[in-house]
Amino acid sequence: MAAGAAPGEWTGVPGVGVPLTRARGRPGVVDAVVAAVGPSNCLTDPDLCAPYETDWTRRWHGRAALVARPTTGDQVAAVVAACTRHRIAVVPQGGNTGLVGGSVPRGGEVLMSLAHLDQTLVVDPVANLLEADAGVTLARAQAAAAEYGLGLGIDLAARDTATLGGMAATNAGGIHVLRYGAMRARLAGLEAVMADGSVLSRTSGVAKDNVGYDLVGLLAGSEGTLGVITRVLVRLAPLPPWRVTALIALRPLPGAGGPVAAAVALVNHLLRQLDGLEAAELFFAEGVELVRQHASLPPPPGASAEAFLLVEVAGRTDPLEALSQALVGHPLVLDTAASTDAAGRVALWAYRERHTEAIAAQGLVHKLDVCLPIRDLADFWAEVIASVRRCRPRAQVICFGHVGEGNLHINILGLEADDTEVDALVLGLVLAHRGSISAEHGVGVAKRSVVGHARGPVDLGIMKALKDALDPHGLFNPGVLFPTRERGGPRGTNRTFGAMGEFG
Ligand code: FAD
Ligand code: MLT
Ligand code: ZN
Repeated sequence: MAAGAAPGEWTGVPGVGVPLTRARGRPGVVDAVVAAVGPSNCLTDPDLCAPYETDWTRRWHGRAALVARPTTGDQVAAVVAACTRHRIAVVPQGGNTGLVGGSVPRGGEVLMSLAHLDQTLVVDPVANLLEADAGVTLARAQAAAAEYGLGLGIDLAARDTATLGGMAATNAGGIHVLRYGAMRARLAGLEAVMADGSVLSRTSGVAKDNVGYDLVGLLAGSEGTLGVITRVLVRLAPLPPWRVTALIALRPLPGAGGPVAAAVALVNHLLRQLDGLEAAELFFAEGVELVRQHASLPPPPGASAEAFLLVEVAGRTDPLEALSQALVGHPLVLDTAASTDAAGRVALWAYRERHTEAIAAQGLVHKLDVCLPIRDLADFWAEVIASVRRCRPRAQVICFGHVGEGNLHINILGLEADDTEVDALVLGLVLAHRGSISAEHGVGVAKRSVVGHARGPVDLGIMKALKDALDPHGLFNPGVLFPTRERGGPRGTNRTFGAMGEFG
């Protein structure tokens, strides 16, 4: 609450309008949230709320009625119960590193930050499980597991800020999906607060459990639309003692999709030749140029190549010899640099991992995270480059991604924030190839208008039935995944229409 405000009174930025009026009309909400989390963890001062209100990409922004920062599961339940009583929407937020706009308010909701719910972090080296509060960051969890020679089998560049709860809620992927799967596959259990304030608890962690529906799997990837995840159990795997990273400059195959076709073929070759291929990441000369400028890096090996493949192999014995045998003399390899020591590997990874920040530093970016049938990936990439060039000649397309899974990140610079035509063009190509419009980042608000084109009517009907059953008042992250209801929709939401129309 801002200095000088009466208890329970919302004070915000003058002139913002709708959200302020809504919160002012419900002083009981502020009182209830203060009662639940304490005054220092209920923020209404606009300056204090501001960091929670804009997403990582700076493309999405909205004012919250207030920011609640619970530190225990009971506090989360009390905040949710209060919001349900007052029929005010809740936007859960972890580290706010999400890339589809789902973690920030649309206008007038209670923003619930789980970042302070981070006390519990326990490793069980017998069951090979890690149990943690939702706000624990990936990096903290990785460090705790590493003390026992274990890893989570999941890693991504936002590790220092992304929370385990957010990663579960988005079913995050990252750089090791090739070997270990995405977050849903890593989850052995979770605890979540449901819309009425009750707590779903599946935390026994037993290896096999077929009693009824897979509610853990359902909450994974639900993007804050079904419940607030308060605790997670993550499966651990032994950390292989040997690890080699190689950066490969690619010789393209003939044809328009040549560099991508070369990457796909080389990854297949490595999968057949090697045990323990953990990462296979593709990126292009334009991206390397941006990263080099942004991070002042020297030229990579084979600096004149059009595309690069970064691979990582890990095992119980040194995989360097096997990797070099697989690469030396291979017709698709122009040049290679490899490293087995930590500093050398970090230096090679920098060309790939620093793409996101280097691109963001250029200004507003349209980010499209898509997955294609692996056979179609090269043609799709060539079509995207040609179509965007035709449609927006001044736009710059920077692609990179997890080529082992056919997952490309298409980043388009030089567009207006509300230019949905190019997004629709690219996503239309994805659908034409029977790909997925969201591989690992989720739908958020960025892609909600396309969901109706990406799933059939039966599928959509089941999703809506689940949403209505678990969140009958539509208060959990309205506007995310499902478009906001036209009439009688939950409070604190706006309607927006994408170029491809809404469903629902
Ligand atoms: P937030 O951004 O805060 O929230 C994301 C979504 O989850 C929102 O819809 C929010 O409402 C919901 N949510 C958050 N916490 C909870 C909770 N406790 N209960 C219920 N709902 C919740 N993603 C990948 O998949 N792979 C990558 O390789 C990858 N690399 C990245 C690299 C960078 C540099 C950046 C900035 C992002 C990257 N991301 C990647 C995206 C992002 O890190 C992931 O989506 C991550 O899972 C988000 O976690 P978070 O804690 O920041 O969640
Ligand atoms: C990555 O693979 O680096 C991430 O998914 C982030 C991004 O797409 O920018
Ligand atoms: Zn990614």
